[in-house]
Amino acid sequence: MHSGLKMHVDPQVIRAFYLYLIKNTEIVLKLPYMNIKHIDRSDIVLSLLLVCMLAATGYFGYQTLTLKKELATFSDETKRTVTDKDQKLAEAHKTITQLEDTLDDIRDDLEDLEDDYRKEKNKNEDFEDQIRKIAGTVGDLDKLSKTDKELLQKYSKVYFLNENYIPSDIEEIDEEYILPGKNAQFFHGDALPFLEDMIEDAARDDIDLKVISAYRSFDYQNALKGQFTQVYGEGANTFSADQGYSEHQLGTTVDLTDPATGGTYTSFADTEAYAWLLKNAHKHGFTLSYPEGNNFYIFEPWHWRFVGEDLAEHLYDENIHFYDMDQREIDEYLIKIFD
Ligand code: DAL
Ligand code: ZN
Repeated sequence: MHSGLKMHVDPQVIRAFYLYLIKNTEIVLKLPYMNIKHIDRSDIVLSLLLVCMLAATGYFGYQTLTLKKELATFSDETKRTVTDKDQKLAEAHKTITQLEDTLDDIRDDLEDLEDDYRKEKNKNEDFEDQIRKIAGTVGDLDKLSKTDKELLQKYSKVYFLNENYIPSDIEEIDEEYILPGKNAQFFHGDALPFLEDMIEDAARDDIDLKVISAYRSFDYQNALKGQFTQVYGEGANTFSADQGYSEHQLGTTVDLTDPATGGTYTSFADTEAYAWLLKNAHKHGFTLSYPEGNNFYIFEPWHWRFVGEDLAEHLYDENIHFYDMDQREIDEYLIKIFD
């Protein structure tokens, strides 16, 4: 910037020029003391011109110097300003870098927190699962504790129930489902809706199912067996259980017939009603206890026991009978017997 203002003039020329100026200035200064007649007019004009030039040179020199100073001052200030700005920029960069580092730290902390939160959440979910399982187990145990285990035990000549056993809930079967002329009959309160549904379902298929005998207490079975024994002697053992060995004492077993067959038990095997039961009883939780060829009694097509829909479906699907199964396996169905 400064180089543009410098003029490269030969020092000899400048020196000659100044000497010339001084000489003429002397002439001008001496004018008042000199005899004007002896002075050439052109010299005077030239000297005045030179004085003016000197003054102009001085003035412009002064202006140039002032400008140079101002320029230098401005340059210095600009430099300082630029330096200040550079410093501020550097500080800003430093601050930004520090902020970025802080942000990275915060991000790391946040990720750690998220990890911790996820771990805690998973722990809580596992804990909730455990609680649910425990609650489920407690619920199952509670349900089981309220369900008589006798309901799915085997009873026959070999397996004895209990002379004191009575169902937890006994309800009278609606008269419309009872074979006309028979006494009032009772059934387990929790199994009764299944029996009613089955009879209604059969009715929709034009099958008229009627109940002949349902719940029988220990004493009633005792009396009944006594009557049969009087008539049939030892033969009664082929179709009638001793007291304490009958499924009827559970309240979940029913002898069925149709009005045409009535109490003529054995011919029930030839009826459409029996064929319907073979195809549909399992859908309502009932199963045939004593099929042809069983180990305990004669074939009893009328005698159906409620074991719950799940177990009845299983028996139907596997084409097996209740007494073919292990008790341990049967017990697994107890909890859902009335589901
Ligand atoms: N008729 C069956 C065997 C009972 O008396 O329980
Ligand atoms: Zn029976």
